[in-house]
Amino acid sequence: MTENRVYNFNPGPAAIPVEVLKEIQEEFLNFKGSGMSITEISHRSKPFDDVINDAIERTKRLLNLDNRFNVLFIQGGASMQFCMVPMNFLADGGSADYVNTGTWATKAIKEAQLLKKDIKIVASSEDKNFSYIPDNIRFSPDAVYVHVTSNNTIKGTQFSTFPDTGGVPIISDMSSDIMSRPLDMNKFGLIYAGAQKNLGPAGVCMVIIRDDLLEKVPDTLPSMLKYTTYSSKNSLYNTPPSFAIYTVQLVLKWLEEKIGGLKKIEEINKKKAAILYDYFDGTDFYRGTAEKNSRSLMNVTFRLPSEDLEKTFVEKATQNGMVGLKGHRSVGGCRASIYNAMPIKGIEALVDFMKVFESKNG
Ligand SMILES: Cc1ncc(COP(=O)(O)O)c(C=O)c1O
Repeated sequence: MTENRVYNFNPGPAAIPVEVLKEIQEEFLNFKGSGMSITEISHRSKPFDDVINDAIERTKRLLNLDNRFNVLFIQGGASMQFCMVPMNFLADGGSADYVNTGTWATKAIKEAQLLKKDIKIVASSEDKNFSYIPDNIRFSPDAVYVHVTSNNTIKGTQFSTFPDTGGVPIISDMSSDIMSRPLDMNKFGLIYAGAQKNLGPAGVCMVIIRDDLLEKVPDTLPSMLKYTTYSSKNSLYNTPPSFAIYTVQLVLKWLEEKIGGLKKIEEINKKKAAILYDYFDGTDFYRGTAEKNSRSLMNVTFRLPSEDLEKTFVEKATQNGMVGLKGHRSVGGCRASIYNAMPIKGIEALVDFMKVFESKNG
C-alpha cells in the first residue's frame, strides 16, 4: 500500500491504478501546456482530439480489432445500452436471443420487453440462483443477435469461453470484465462496458460495434439513442464526458505500456483469482458461491458460516485497510472485486487477513 491508500475491493466505481491517479494529479492544473485543466478545455480542441483518438487507437490495439470495428463513447452507463441495443437492432421486427445469468442480464431483458421487442430467453441459470453459466444452449438461427453478460458482477460467475451461436453476432455486456483478457472478436457484433470497473471512472460507457450492425440502425431513432450518431461524429456529437474519457485513455496506456497488454493481464488476473479460490477450496469456513467451472476472475463471491460473522469480517477487514468486501445488497454475503487495478499484493494481504480471521472465529 502507498500513501495511506487502502486495498479497494469495491465492485464499481472501483480501483484505478495508482500510477494513473498520479499522472492525473500531475497534469491536472495544466494539461499538456495549455494552462488549463483537462476539465476546462474544449472537447473540440486539438488536445482533446488527441486524447479521444489515442483512447480509440489503444482499444483497437489491445483488443486486436480489425477495421470493421468502431470504438464509441456513450453516456448513460451500461444500463442505457440495455435499451439502445434492442432499439437499434430490432427496429424492423427481427428477434433476438438472450441468456439470463443474473441481475444485469435480467435488466437487459426487461428493457427489451418494455420496448415490446421480440426476444427469446434461450437459457437461464435462475434455477440455481444464478450460480453457474449455462452451456449447450440452442440458439435461434435467425436471431439478429445473441445477448450475454460476460461477467456477472453480483453473482460472481463468468463465461470462460463464448458459445458457438452459429454465426449470429454476440452482443455482450462486458462492464465488469472488459480488457481483463484477450477476446476473439470474430464472434462479437457489439460489446459494451460501463467504464467504472476496469476502464476508469463512472460517466462513460465504451461501445465497440461492427460496421454491419451500424447498417441496421434506423434513421428514425432520436439522435442521442442511435449508434450512428456516435460513429459518424467520433463520439463528439454533443459534449462528451471528457474527464472520464481522458482517464480511460490513461488506464489503457497503463495496460498497454506498464502491464504489457491483455495476455499479460489475463495471466495476472488468473493468478490473483487462483490465490483466493485455492484458499476457499481448502477450508470449510469460507464457501465460494459460484459453481467451480463458472467462477469469475473478477468478482469473487463467498459466504462465511453466519451473517453475523460476515458482518464482523467486513468490519474488521475495513479496519485493516481492505474495503468494499460486502456482497451486493440483493444477495448478501461477501465479494472481493479484483479487477485489473488490484495488485497481487492486495490479494495476498486479503488471504492473510482471512486466515487470521478464520483461526479466531472458525
Ligand atoms: C455487468 C453489469 N452490467 C451493467 C451494470 C450497470 O452499469 P451502469 O451503472 O453503468 O448503468 C453493472 C453495474 O454494476 C454491471 O456490473
